[in-house]
Formats: sequence, structure tokens, C-alpha cells
Amino acid sequence: MPVPVRKAIFPVGGLGTRFLPATKSMPKEMLPVVDKPLIQYAVDEAREAGIEEFIFVTGRGKAAIEDHFDHAYELQDMLSSRGKIDALNLVKATIPEPGALAYVRQQEPLGLGHAVWCGRNFVGSEPVAVLLADDLILNGVGCLKQMIDAYETVGGNMVAIMEVEPEQTANYGVITPGDIDGRLVEVRGLVEKPKPEDAPSNFAVIGRYILQPNVFADLGRMEQGAGGEIQLTDALARQLGLQPFNGFRFEGRRFDCGSKVGFLEANIAFALDRDDLKDDVAAFLKTYT
Ligand code: G1P
Repeated sequence: MPVPVRKAIFPVGGLGTRFLPATKSMPKEMLPVVDKPLIQYAVDEAREAGIEEFIFVTGRGKAAIEDHFDHAYELQDMLSSRGKIDALNLVKATIPEPGALAYVRQQEPLGLGHAVWCGRNFVGSEPVAVLLADDLILNGVGCLKQMIDAYETVGGNMVAIMEVEPEQTANYGVITPGDIDGRLVEVRGLVEKPKPEDAPSNFAVIGRYILQPNVFADLGRMEQGAGGEIQLTDALARQLGLQPFNGFRFEGRRFDCGSKVGFLEANIAFALDRDDLKDDVAAFLKTYT
């Protein structure tokens, strides 16, 4: 039985330049899809998967994330005294247990691998999940829970994967697939952002990972990869052969909320998935066709 995954890292240091001016003074992870910030979706998905400790790798100007996951005394007191119990319960439900959250600053934007490495002292010698809040997945059972259920059988390193259009490979980590067993695809190779003509497949890595702790030693070597950045993809590729490594073809629809179109589409899809909104939203959408 593999060591259980109890901790998760959330890299939230990125500048969010694609959403300026919205992100001038607000972290991009606080952008709402319908009425919930992107980072809250990621934290909720981790909680559903049984994660107990939440490590945020932040940067300057990200304090709103800490405030969001904190007790909001004045707001809660006001909602309580006005009898707004539903709103109060929503606010209370945002917060993991006291002491379950840790924040560490990345200090310099040296890449995703470096951001994950910055969380190492909070992880120690356990496996850890990594969730990129930009990748939002709509499904009854969250993507990380699906992965952890599969991990309990196979262990090792695991990445969420999906098939993308072949001309899109330069936006993703891409795997060389091996044996396929249901939703699991053996990873035989992994490369960051290959040009379509160099891509080993069209199975792209989506922002959900389960990492064994030995990846931190590799990340600590600070080897630069694609774009001169310290890439998580490269560190994982160097772990091939040391332990099982699988891609997991998750169930659900994924939205790239790092792009404007993906973010807008996520808002529509998540609204259409809500009983309180779907009829009104479907009705106004018809007026645009
Ligand atoms: C990161 C990873 C990449 C992965 C992608 C998923 O890239 O480096 O391997 O496919 O997330 O969203 P980024 O989108 O941060 O450039």
C-alpha cells in the first residue's frame, strides 16, 4: 500500500499578466468562476480528496489569498446578527482547519519546478499533490480524488493527462505513453512544451500531480529547462525508472482558466451546472446565437 497523500502544494506566485488590468492589485487565483475564486475550487478539490495540509507557494501582492482562507470576524458577525445563515455557512465552509494552511514565498519567478521546491520543508519525506488553480475541472468527483483512488493501487508519481489537439503540444508537458490500463497510462517519457513535430504524443499534462518526495532532491539541483525555467516536468522525467510513473486520464471537462477564452467558458459551463442559474443562463445564451 503506497504512503497516503496528505499534503498538497498550490503554486500561486504567478503574475497573471494575461488578465491585466483585473490582476493589477488582485491575485489571478482570486478571479471568480461564477461566485467562487479559482483557488477555492482547487482547495475544495484537495479537501474532497482527503488532503489535510495545504501549502501555498506565494509571491508579493498575494495577501488576498491568505485573507480569503482566514476567519473573517466582522463579516461573520454581521451575517450572523442579520440572520443571513446561508451566506454565513458559505463563508465558514471556505476555511480548512486552523493550522492546516502554510504559506511560503517563492521570492523569484524561476519556474514551476522551483515553486514546488519552495514547499519542500513543509512536505518532508511524504508524497505530495500539486494543484495548479488555472486548470479547472468540472466533474462530480474531483480530478485529484480520482487520481488518489488510482494511486492507492499503483503508487509512484502520477500526472493528470488529457488528449489535446496535436498543434497545441507546445503549451503543455507531453508524455511518451506506454501500456494503457483503463484510465492509467504508463509514462515512458515526458517533455516540456514540445513543438508539434517533436511531440511524442498528444497526451498533455494537466495541472494535477502526485509526487514522491525524492523529486525535491532533483529540483534542488536547479537545472534549467524549457524557457530557462526550472521545470517540474524535467525533474519528473529524470525520475523515470525509479518508481512507477503513470498518467491518469481523468473524467471531467477541463478549462484553461489561464486564458481569457477558457476562463469565460468555465464561467458559462459552471453556471449551466448550477440548479439556481442554469435556466436563466441558458435563456440569455440563446439570444447570442
Ligand atoms: C505547466 C506545466 C506543464 C503543464 C501545464 C498544465 O505549464 O509546466 O507541463 O502541461 O502547466 O496546465 P504552464 O501552463 O504553467 O506554462
